[in-house]
Amino acid sequence: MVRMKILALLLTTIFLTPALASAGDNCLVGSCHSTVLSAKRPHSPAKDGNCLVCHVKQLQQHPTPGKKGFTLAASSEKACAPCHPSLGTGSQFHQPVKEGNCVACHQPHGGDNRLLLKNGEELSGLCFSCHDKVPFTRKLVHGPVTAGKCGSCHDPHRSDSKELLIGKTNDICLGCHEEIKAVLSGARYVHPPISVSSCVACHDPHSSDRPSLAKNKMPDLCFDCHKTLQDRLAKVTNLHKPLSQARGCGNCHDPHASKVKNLLSTDEMELCLSCHGDAKLAPLKNIRAELKGKKNLHGPLLLGRCTGCHDPHGSSNFRLLKGAYPATFYAPYAQGSYDFCLKCHEKNLLRFPDTTVNTKFRNGNRNLHYLHVVNNRKGRTCRVCHEAHAADGPKLTNSAGASFGAWKIPFVLEVTETGGRCSSGCHRALGYDRSKPVVYLPGRSSGFNPLSSPRQGVRN
Ligand code: HEC
Ligand code: HEC
Ligand code: HEC
Ligand code: HEC
Ligand code: HEC
Ligand code: HEC
Ligand code: HEC
Ligand code: HEC
Ligand code: HEC
Ligand code: HEC
Ligand code: HEC
Ligand code: HEC
Ligand code: HEC
Repeated sequence: MVRMKILALLLTTIFLTPALASAGDNCLVGSCHSTVLSAKRPHSPAKDGNCLVCHVKQLQQHPTPGKKGFTLAASSEKACAPCHPSLGTGSQFHQPVKEGNCVACHQPHGGDNRLLLKNGEELSGLCFSCHDKVPFTRKLVHGPVTAGKCGSCHDPHRSDSKELLIGKTNDICLGCHEEIKAVLSGARYVHPPISVSSCVACHDPHSSDRPSLAKNKMPDLCFDCHKTLQDRLAKVTNLHKPLSQARGCGNCHDPHASKVKNLLSTDEMELCLSCHGDAKLAPLKNIRAELKGKKNLHGPLLLGRCTGCHDPHGSSNFRLLKGAYPATFYAPYAQGSYDFCLKCHEKNLLRFPDTTVNTKFRNGNRNLHYLHVVNNRKGRTCRVCHEAHAADGPKLTNSAGASFGAWKIPFVLEVTETGGRCSSGCHRALGYDRSKPVVYLPGRSSGFNPLSSPRQGVRN
């Protein structure tokens, strides 16, 4: 390209100079066109007096009052092309370049700005002489746009993209954003829109009313593509709060890439505990403190999976659980009301008053889970005896006991080879034995008779 330019300059010098030198001299004689060369940075052919490379003489007599003695070469492109034959490469031309309207942006005789540009040193001034300013002046303006450097992404003349970009979008962005480049190259999982589409799937390259130059507000930015999730969440009664907070989905996901599956910003359990384990966020319950020092963690927690039980996005169940689970201390039993626990545990746990296999909580064949829980008026929910997350006692029982209003009902379980013994605030200490059923004497001090209906049996 440089060679062609030099060649063109050489040709113009050989063929045009002798004739034009005098023309220039003539044109600049006196004060007629003295302003033509008044600019700080005159354009070389004008300075050299080569006026006729661009101006074509029409009348013998110049000046002729009321008549134009000169016209321009058919288009400025024609006039410029001999000396500037090539303006980069690319199949897409900027409209004014295509129209040969070089002087829309350049001053043909000379100017005060770099590269003879019109409207100031900063490109934005020039560009805004034709393009609407509004998309570039929203609340948060992108760094290079603020600096007026449209040229850091666009070629003013031509390129291979319709948007006149100087390269592939991602390459342009990552050329400056090395921090994101590092995230992408260190990640195992890259969010498909980045590889398949580009950064501008989510960001406005110019300006935006939202933080991080986002094209849309949270969580709609993400829902634009994640319709299935959006549709599902539209139907739930309980949306997990962070989704509707300012960072939205970005509270848990890295929108670009991650070392962790599902683009989580860190390992799942650590992620959840970053909020649910931070004393500063009280009254948010501190689950980290609840787990600390406990001997027995509930199975899924041993695998670091909070989402084995909770839906991280939203759910219509109590506490974002992935299935039905009663919210209260006592709850009338209804079929399906414990589906949450029973999707992982013995599904017949609560089906039969008598069983030999479905649970170890038996006295002989008497199913003591059935006895306590299946009650149409006041069933005891699992939380009366079991902790959800962690416990110091066996079978997820906690010696501190379950919360009953402001009171904790103490509950100590000892398990033996064939049964166990419960000392609790509900009734006197009672044992159970699967091989040699304990015979409960009716009418003893507490009046408790577990063999009768639980409604009358266990003190409410
Ligand atoms: C590189 C091409 C080029 C050269 C060389 C050139 N002109 Fe021009 N000139 C133009 C163009 C293009 C216009 C029309 C400008 C416009 O429309 O904005 C123009 C406009 C003019 C005008 C109209 C008034 C004005 O300034 O807009 C005069 C007078 C003029 N030129 C004189 C000269 C003289 C004298 C010389 C030589 C010293 C010269 N030009 C050299 C391209 C050139
Ligand atoms: C007779 C040859 C010739 C013609 C015709 C010509 N130029 Fe130039 N132009 C030059 C030379 C010589 C330079 C200075 C050398 C360089 O920097 O490449 C130059 C420089 C430029 C520059 C860069 C200025 C700078 O400071 O580096 C621009 C922009 C430019 N010309 C635009 C135009 C436009 C627009 C036209 C048509 C209206 C045009 N030229 C017509 C010879 C010409
Ligand atoms: C939309 C505005 C615009 C139009 C139209 C335009 N240019 Fe430019 N031109 C620019 C800008 C902006 C730059 C400076 C780019 C940069 O900063 O590197 C430039 C740079 C140049 C340069 C110097 C750098 C280079 O690429 O060699 C030349 C020569 C040039 N233009 C010639 C032309 C010619 C000839 C035409 C018409 C065919 C034209 N321009 C049309 C905006 C324009
Ligand atoms: C003389 C008027 C004019 C100037 C000055 C101008 N443009 Fe344009 N630009 C146009 C026109 C006309 C189009 C075609 C618009 C369309 O198709 O909607 C266009 C299209 C574009 C496009 C492609 C848009 C598309 O939808 O294909 C980009 C990018 C662009 N211009 C950037 C710039 C930049 C950057 C500058 C400043 C260096 C600039 N323009 C200066 C007139 C101009
Ligand atoms: C950080 C890179 C970058 C900068 C700086 C930049 N643009 Fe763009 N521009 C883009 C990208 C990328 C697109 C394509 C957007 C898309 O496809 O959604 C674009 C598109 C455009 C379009 C086409 C219309 C549109 O909005 O889709 C115009 C016009 C435009 N830019 C003008 C400008 C002007 C004028 C400036 C300087 C004030 C500028 N751009 C600065 C990257 C940039
Ligand atoms: C020429 C360098 C450059 C290019 C190219 C560039 N950026 Fe930027 N970008 C910056 C600068 C400078 C900032 C402001 C940084 C700051 O304020 O800390 C910025 C800020 C941002 C921000 C906002 C950060 C925040 O904290 O709010 C986003 C998002 C962004 N750029 C995305 C992009 C995208 C997408 C592209 C490609 C279309 C891109 N950038 C291309 C230089 C660039
Ligand atoms: C799927 C949408 C999406 C895509 C695609 C995307 N981003 Fe982002 N980006 C975001 C969101 C959302 C944020 C805000 C994150 C937050 O709040 O923590 C962000 C933040 C940023 C920031 C601000 C700094 C930071 O890390 O928080 C920069 C810079 C950035 N993105 C650049 C890029 C670049 C460069 C690309 C292309 C390689 C890109 N983004 C692609 C959604 C996206
Ligand atoms: C331009 C479309 C698009 C946008 C916008 C988008 N995504 Fe995605 N996302 C995809 C595609 C495509 C996949 C891969 C297919 C799938 O799993 O649905 C994906 C996958 C994911 C995954 C699963 C990754 C895995 O490892 O399986 C998560 C998490 C995700 N996106 C979160 C987000 C978040 C958060 C946002 C908003 C910041 C967002 N997405 C915005 C298109 C998009
Ligand atoms: C509180 C943290 C958190 C927030 C906020 C969050 N997610 Fe997730 N997301 C997760 C976790 C954890 C997983 C992995 C779930 C699993 O393995 O069951 C996940 C999985 C996903 C997946 C892949 C699996 C699936 O369910 O399709 C997509 C897509 C996704 N999230 C999109 C989003 C979008 C979009 C938003 C914002 C509307 C969002 N997430 C907000 C934590 C979150
Ligand atoms: C960015 C902070 C944040 C992160 C990360 C977070 N949460 Fe939450 N979570 C909250 C807030 C805020 C509430 C709402 C508390 C309220 O309404 O009082 C909440 C509520 C909950 C609730 C109770 C819902 C109810 O109906 O009472 C559960 C269960 C929960 N989160 C589980 C999780 C799990 C599991 C994860 C990890 C996948 C997680 N959270 C990650 C902030 C967070
Ligand atoms: C085995 C299933 C299970 C796992 C795994 C699990 N949870 Fe829970 N979580 C529950 C149940 C059941 C409740 C309801 C407890 C109750 O009120 O009886 C609950 C309640 C909660 C609450 C609401 C506490 C309150 O009283 O406001 C939060 C917050 C919570 N879990 C967070 C987590 C976090 C964080 C993790 C991972 C570290 C996690 N959960 C793992 C089953 C689970
Ligand atoms: C996502 C699956 C899952 C859900 C849902 C679940 N658990 Fe578990 N639970 C486990 C796993 C895994 C273990 C450890 C392996 C085992 O002992 O079965 C376990 C262990 C237990 C234990 C201790 C058993 C023993 O022998 O030590 C009790 C008690 C328990 N769960 C009660 C519950 C209750 C009550 C619920 C409902 C509030 C529930 N679980 C919901 C998976 C689950
Ligand atoms: C009255 C207290 C009590 C209630 C209420 C209770 N459990 Fe239990 N559960 C126990 C005892 C005691 C054991 C220990 C049995 C043994 O191993 O000797 C046990 C054991 C378990 C086990 C281990 C496997 C088995 O059946 O032996 C699971 C799972 C379990 N319970 C789930 C549940 C679920 C789900 C609920 C609510 C539907 C529930 N429990 C309600 C006292 C209770």
